[in-house]
Amino acid sequence: MDVVPRRGNIASRPAGAVAIGIFQGERRPTGAAGAIDRASRGAVTALLRSRDFTGRFLETAVLYPSGLRARRLIVVGLGQPEELSPHRVRLVAGQAARRARDLGARTLATPAHGAGRGGIEPERAARAVAEGSILGDYRFTAYRTDPGPPPLDRVEIVELDAASSVRMRPAILDGVRVARGVCLARDLASTPGEDLPPERLGQKALAVARAAGATARVLGKAQLERLGMGGLLAVGRGSANPPCLIVLERGPGGGRGAATAARPTRTVVVIGKGVTFDTGGISLKPRENMNKMKYDMSGGAAVLGLFSALQGVELPLRLVGLIPAAENMPGGRALKPGDVVRMMDGTTVEVTNTDAEGRLLLADALAYSRRYEPEAVVDLATLTGAISIALGHLAAGLFTPDEDLAAELLAAAAETGERLWRMPLWPEYASELRGDTADFVNSAGREGVSILAATFLRHFARDLPWAHLDIASTAWSPVDRPHEPRGPTGFGVRLLLEWISRRAADPGKSAAPAAARARP
Ligand code: BES
Ligand code: MN
Ligand code: ZN
Repeated sequence: MDVVPRRGNIASRPAGAVAIGIFQGERRPTGAAGAIDRASRGAVTALLRSRDFTGRFLETAVLYPSGLRARRLIVVGLGQPEELSPHRVRLVAGQAARRARDLGARTLATPAHGAGRGGIEPERAARAVAEGSILGDYRFTAYRTDPGPPPLDRVEIVELDAASSVRMRPAILDGVRVARGVCLARDLASTPGEDLPPERLGQKALAVARAAGATARVLGKAQLERLGMGGLLAVGRGSANPPCLIVLERGPGGGRGAATAARPTRTVVVIGKGVTFDTGGISLKPRENMNKMKYDMSGGAAVLGLFSALQGVELPLRLVGLIPAAENMPGGRALKPGDVVRMMDGTTVEVTNTDAEGRLLLADALAYSRRYEPEAVVDLATLTGAISIALGHLAAGLFTPDEDLAAELLAAAAETGERLWRMPLWPEYASELRGDTADFVNSAGREGVSILAATFLRHFARDLPWAHLDIASTAWSPVDRPHEPRGPTGFGVRLLLEWISRRAADPGKSAAPAAARARP
């Protein structure tokens, strides 16, 4: 689907459908809704008068008035004016796009909801509409013989004011780029484990890097052995599909390289858990819903979506993406409970539960990240089922001892609507992970599971400014939402992009090398 800006009167656009937003309690449509109302000789006013439609957030009506060049009019509630936000605009746009698609429309004309009376800057509103339209129209149909109604061909964001329309142009391109990155992450997480083992995920990374002007390397088993990545190797041991470490890099500016030591470079590392299928290993998972564990590489998928979304974007920092990828299987050579693993940094871990595999491979990726002397490291992982027990499906868990990083990530999340909820990391939790045989155990009981997992990772992050996002709760939506059908959501792509963009724009950060930053 393409999203394009158009200058002009929305009421005269030919399209399969035209969408407008109406605030709660609005009696007299203004702006785009006003133009549509006049052209349709009062169709919108009549709807509002009927009280069949009150403008409640996401309430939706479809009308077929004469006087428009569009075949249908989709009216979506914007809710209370003071509650309108870019994220609400995204949801409204997603709702309209999906409805238009389901009705068989191929093109949709829409205003940048919220840019007028909603008080949102035109660029932000237009970007949100572009993102929401693509995200809402998305479906995963790769394995369907009958894919159902085709996606929209085109969404036109129509703006009457010439200056605003010009300002919207680059914002729309930004929105399209990031939404496509999210869709890529969704596609990858939806792909069955059989069709996306670690090696294939590596090939996808190479393709993403090539298209996005970044570099990618895939370190195979022999290299992992040389590096001493005992955690990653252990997780992959029971599978016929060998593990690998995927390393993506883009330099300051747009593209490749700049990874030389000649000039110290600001570096940010993002790590994504890449378990292409998680059976639990010898500590086998129960059979119910195990199919869902194809999404256990959603963190890795988000990293790839991020790199893809950064195509053509200049950043004054080097970005490194690490995806430790493995298939967690039971098998004749599989890791056994009681086995002791020596991690890349030398720490020894007694594996008490082979289903707590994510922390083993993430620990090695964290150790590996040190070579870049990063100013920040963020990992995303579908790490614990318990995070959904704590937070439901509305928020991911944010774990970090770094107050600045927490504030930055929470601010980015507020903009993108990908909720984060900060969880504790009190040092006393670490005592529960002490082992009798080795330095640590990888799993201890069923209390505070998500926090213990994060505490385990913290040991390997040491003094790096580090944050961990447990996205097991949000990377898969159990319900259809306006901007995401049920299933893999691509959670984290927009959030990481927002966070990195803000960080890149903040010169203050460059003055504070990792080692010198205050630690709580
Ligand atoms: N990939 C799972 C986490 C998960 C579980 C995500 C259920 C979504 C739904 C992870 O590898 C895992 O199995 N975690 C264990 C940890 C436990 C063994 C300490 C869990 O959550 O049960
Ligand atoms: Mn597991
Ligand atoms: Zn897992």
